[in-house]
Amino acid sequence: MSHAQAAPPWWHGAVIYQLYVRSWRDTNDDGYGDLRGIIDGLDYLSWLGVDAIWLSPTMPSPDDDWGYDVSDYTGVHPELGTLADLDELIAEAGQRGMRVLLDLVPNHTSSAHPWFIDAASGRAAAHRGYYVWADAGPDGGPPNNWLDFTGHPAWQWHESGQYYLHNFLAGQPDLNWWEPAVHREFARILEFWFDRGVAGFRVDVANGLYKDAELRDNPPLHSGNPMEGAWGLRFAYNFNRPEVHGVYRDWRKITEGYSPERLLLGETWVPDAQQLAAYYGDHDELQLGFNFPFAFADFEPARLAALVEQTLAALPPGGCPVWMGSNHDLGRFPSRWCGGDERKIRLALLVLATLPGTSVLYYGDEIGMTDVNVPVALRRDHATLELEGGADRDRARTPMPWNGSPGGGFTGPGVTPWLPMADPPDHTVAGQRDDPDSVLSLCRRLLALRRAELGGSLADFENLAVTEGVWAYRTGSVIVAANFTGQPAEIPAATGEVLLSTSAEHAPPGPGLLRPWEGIITRCV
Ligand code: GLC
Ligand code: CA
Repeated sequence: MSHAQAAPPWWHGAVIYQLYVRSWRDTNDDGYGDLRGIIDGLDYLSWLGVDAIWLSPTMPSPDDDWGYDVSDYTGVHPELGTLADLDELIAEAGQRGMRVLLDLVPNHTSSAHPWFIDAASGRAAAHRGYYVWADAGPDGGPPNNWLDFTGHPAWQWHESGQYYLHNFLAGQPDLNWWEPAVHREFARILEFWFDRGVAGFRVDVANGLYKDAELRDNPPLHSGNPMEGAWGLRFAYNFNRPEVHGVYRDWRKITEGYSPERLLLGETWVPDAQQLAAYYGDHDELQLGFNFPFAFADFEPARLAALVEQTLAALPPGGCPVWMGSNHDLGRFPSRWCGGDERKIRLALLVLATLPGTSVLYYGDEIGMTDVNVPVALRRDHATLELEGGADRDRARTPMPWNGSPGGGFTGPGVTPWLPMADPPDHTVAGQRDDPDSVLSLCRRLLALRRAELGGSLADFENLAVTEGVWAYRTGSVIVAANFTGQPAEIPAATGEVLLSTSAEHAPPGPGLLRPWEGIITRCV
């Protein structure tokens, strides 16, 4: 198929909304958001102007890691709804012109998955080879020095006489992708969901899957970069192995067998643009890969401008970059980048809405929702239960504050939500929806402008001016000028008619000036 002639894929210039299902809307008053809550909220998402939603894991799971430990890849978690609810959600979203992406977890299963239960039944079990088993090391300890993501040995001793590998929690045994049957299982899982109308997957731990065949020790880590390694060891042999690319070449062929082509959006946890680009292959692997160096970058012009340029230069020609500032692991950009300062939040939304390619918003970004300080006693994420405040993942998983009523419009009055609501909720949807100067109204205008000016295209991008405090760039038909300082700044490039300003102040700032932390979108001159 010639890419030059094909209609542009829907994700070019699009906005995807990541929705943490358990925290969005609870319709049966059990304190957990559910699929029916999303169906009820589709009109809101369509009003907001997103092109697609990505649902955090929806499959049955014992929830050691809130759905990232799957026990049935073709089902729906009973606490979230039924397969019929999901079918209805896909159909109702489609009626409103929105696509639905699911989360797929191919690096590991739950230890409650029937494959693992069988594999653990003995060394001759039919599914033994689906997982990574190894004999004890010479000292009787773990087979190598790999650590899991909590910093403990990544090997769990099992009574069947061997260790099994878990790069995440012990309840998440790693799959063995050297086993051809695992490939066949996942091809069937992809087809099962694509046949049901799922528009694609966010692929969990997309840089994982294969592990070094010889299980060599990881070397020491010489940087503090979380994408290069953790707990003092570099991810040399347990992640980002060359063989993983073959999996995506196979899956890409499956996606291209559907019309419209299904999307694979990888959680590509790698430290630089070159390694990220490798996951796009020659337009024959993932169509999109998350840009973690961008999300982890300081919110300052030089760094952001350089990252955008490096990313565009590294991707194959016509490759579509992906930008995001928040997710359920990293926390929320209104806290990390903006320290809760509304002017900075508005500016960050403008940047996310005007970069070329695909932008991903996390639920709550649109109202400037910040991280919530969740007391240890109320935490639900096993992996970060004991970490100091600010490092736990629950801080960015708290319920969506819809309004100021008891239950916040998230759940019924008197129901205890699974994680605490922001208290008192200082940003709510209802409180912002009719206020033309609110973050929500700004976000909606930004998405409308993005759709009109950049939708359906891979707008070409050019940095126009980058100083210590100001960033100006052209994307497609518009120019963006952004002031990253608390003082007025001169607009550093020739700009045309102003289409949008992030500032809620109405008095003009003075000719040729940007207000403190103001960003504007203008026509090209
Ligand atoms: C990904 C998910 C994270 C999960 C981990 C293991 O990083 O985003 O939430 O804990 O994979 O599946
Ligand atoms: Ca519920």
